[in-house]
Amino acid sequence: MSIHSGRFAAVTGAGSGNGKAIAETLLEEGAGVALLDINLGSLTEITEKYPRAIAIEANVADEGSTRSAAEQIRKAFGRLDLLVNNAGIVKGATFEELSREEWDQVFAVNSTGPFLMSQAVTGLLRDGVAARGEGATSAIVNITSVEAHIVISSSGHPQIHYNASKGALLQLTRALAVECAGSKIRVNAVAPGFIETPFTRGVLGSPEVVDWLLERTPMGRVGQPEDVANAVSFLGGEKASWVTGATLFVDGGWTVY
Ligand SMILES: NC(=O)c1ccc[n+]([C@@H]2O[C@H](COP(=O)([O-])OP(=O)(O)OC[C@H]3O[C@@H](n4cnc5c(N)ncnc54)[C@H](O)[C@@H]3O)[C@@H](O)[C@H]2O)c1
Repeated sequence: MSIHSGRFAAVTGAGSGNGKAIAETLLEEGAGVALLDINLGSLTEITEKYPRAIAIEANVADEGSTRSAAEQIRKAFGRLDLLVNNAGIVKGATFEELSREEWDQVFAVNSTGPFLMSQAVTGLLRDGVAARGEGATSAIVNITSVEAHIVISSSGHPQIHYNASKGALLQLTRALAVECAGSKIRVNAVAPGFIETPFTRGVLGSPEVVDWLLERTPMGRVGQPEDVANAVSFLGGEKASWVTGATLFVDGGWTVY
């Protein structure tokens, strides 16, 4: 039996890059998966391939939208065992040029979004624990970044708002882990380094950047979305039933080098 068989997950930002790989991995491993994205059309490729996937148009930065998504998940699955807060955006402006509007936009998606989504589905995650009985846990996995811990301008331009928003998500993870432990909901983070997705395609198009990157990556290669997905699969399942408040770095050794 696959490790996520009979379980239900929701993945935000499932239409591209890391979110798409996370959703497909969970589906391959047996879960029913609610795919959430602001771009509904981006989800068609997965729903056409996997009958256990449902597509929901949702903006994680909008409370009404997260509540409506939770309701649609309740109707489709009746409960949830795993929420993956993956949707995130990056923008670039130097500190002195950074507008209040852009600061707010990045925080709204990267930090407030995971708060709103987690709050909207907490009842469903509790229902997941109840449905699976004695010893069961549900899980939230937040996709932070090495940029929550160190500052490397991984997108190739200054991004203090990205750093700060991911730092906030890291502490949200740790604080929620404590508050939700009594409900048997574990809350962990996956912190990716450079992963080859549409998010980083521009930067990775430059051979100089790739050389610079590989020099600093002990494992000697750029990360793939599947590397992130496999870490989420572990933290989201019962093999991690005593792991909460933790960050799993998926960076080829970047942060320890
Ligand atoms: N790619 C990397 O190198 C890297 C490194 C560290 C962390 N991350 C994190 O991984 C996550 C995914 O990144 P990616 O590289 O796959 O990006 P991506 O741009 O390829 O995909 C992001 C997805 O999120 C969706 N989205 C954006 N705003 C949304 C919103 N308000 N509501 C719902 N969906 C929304 C987009 O439509 C898109 O499908 C992000 O949180 C990012 O910060 C990426």
